[in-house]
Amino acid sequence: MQRRKFLGIGVGASAGFLLRSQLRGQQYVSSVGSGLVEIPLTAASTWLSLATRQALLYSYNAQMPGPLIEARAGDTVRLRFKNDLPEPTNLHYHGLHVSPTGNADNSFLEIPSGEAFTYEFSLPSDHPAGTFWYHPHMHGTVARQVSRGLAGVFVVRGELDSIPEIRDTPEYFLVLQDFDLYVNGLIREPSFMERIQGREGPLVTVGGQVNPRISIQQGGWVRLRIVNASSSRFYRLRLEEHPLYLIATDGGAVPSPIAVEEILLVPGERIDVLVQGQRADGSYRLLSLPYNRGGMGMMGGMGMMGGMGPSFGGSAAQVLATLSYQGRTDRTWSLPARLLIVEPLPQPVSPPRSFAFGMGMGMGMGMGRGMSFVINGREFDPNRIDTRVRLNTVEDWEILNPHWMDHPFHVHTNPFQVLDRDGAAERAWRDTFLVPAGSRVRLRLQFKDYTGTTLYHCHILDHSDLGMMATLQIV
Ligand code: C2O
Ligand code: CU
Ligand code: CU
Repeated sequence: MQRRKFLGIGVGASAGFLLRSQLRGQQYVSSVGSGLVEIPLTAASTWLSLATRQALLYSYNAQMPGPLIEARAGDTVRLRFKNDLPEPTNLHYHGLHVSPTGNADNSFLEIPSGEAFTYEFSLPSDHPAGTFWYHPHMHGTVARQVSRGLAGVFVVRGELDSIPEIRDTPEYFLVLQDFDLYVNGLIREPSFMERIQGREGPLVTVGGQVNPRISIQQGGWVRLRIVNASSSRFYRLRLEEHPLYLIATDGGAVPSPIAVEEILLVPGERIDVLVQGQRADGSYRLLSLPYNRGGMGMMGGMGMMGGMGPSFGGSAAQVLATLSYQGRTDRTWSLPARLLIVEPLPQPVSPPRSFAFGMGMGMGMGMGRGMSFVINGREFDPNRIDTRVRLNTVEDWEILNPHWMDHPFHVHTNPFQVLDRDGAAERAWRDTFLVPAGSRVRLRLQFKDYTGTTLYHCHILDHSDLGMMATLQIV
């Protein structure tokens, strides 16, 4: 493992956060104390060491993952972006509630190879604290660019971080990525069939490392912020002999910690969990258990990775990281009973809208290049408005998945609450939620603060690249 290093980029970087964040060799920039976070961010294709080998990857500032960006509600964010990739790209700030227009979180921008662009936006003064992330959103090539490594964490600090027990807990950012590398270090591009399934790479890394160690003190706690930055891979997480205490979902805190033995993290999704050091000294594995996201039978099952490993969903558990006990602490505390209040959204006055995931051109097996993925029968067209909503309204959206594979639904700009069977809203904010094959999910959204055209899509990035994305205009 690399030594922790601190690059003096930006302003007001806070050493306290740096130490607690246990960043290993990772670039870090913070606005804490200054109200402005400013960072030069260069996307380039470079040789990096990844899991003890050299690989030709796409990265931000030659870091895998990209630099950690930290801000607070009300802050201004300025990213001096430079595209040194051999192809156009852009930036999206996944989950942030900021403007989707101009030089803010505008996924319609295209930064040509060799050009620079300054992104600048402000977080609203009531922006929730949470784990967000940034990645490219260049339509048609998002899966390729993300699977080559383009991803970084954008953390918003706030109320959740000031709860004393949480404030004093060592924190780790676990960015989950997967790569498909040839032995010569070049990335293997998937076949069209693999894109239909959603590409997965057999090399799984956590913060750019294979099986990193997370140390915990006997009697102490750690906080794990986990980001699924893979283009298609699902992670069914379990930590041996340790329950995970969920304190936040995508969009921020839940009202009180929720103990879970296992949790499924779909592409784009984040969780924030606490773990207590209460077992015998030793090492415990954070595992990703097998999960079938559909289509195995239809797509021929094993062998789709060109013989390089288990097929999609994997037949064996993967070890992601190892929790290892080191020392003990007498400063023990128990879980806070309450975190933050999450008000359920009011019931909408308008009738629900329906969106159906599907595949274009039928279900035949003669899958030519014309095969596409659709929402409500239509392939993505950036020049068409698919859904028009009014600012300051609440709506229920029903997402139907009659397809034979799972699709995680994601919407930009505004988070949502998931409705249960009785129509009650979950006390949690999310922006990415799994709609399993053959099921439906109902969400409640509120369109706040920003007008403009934004996007919703499946977050299996090969699917959105192949058309499973649509425009949302907020007026
Ligand atoms: Cu994480 Cu539209 O994306
Ligand atoms: Cu997004
Ligand atoms: Cu999909």
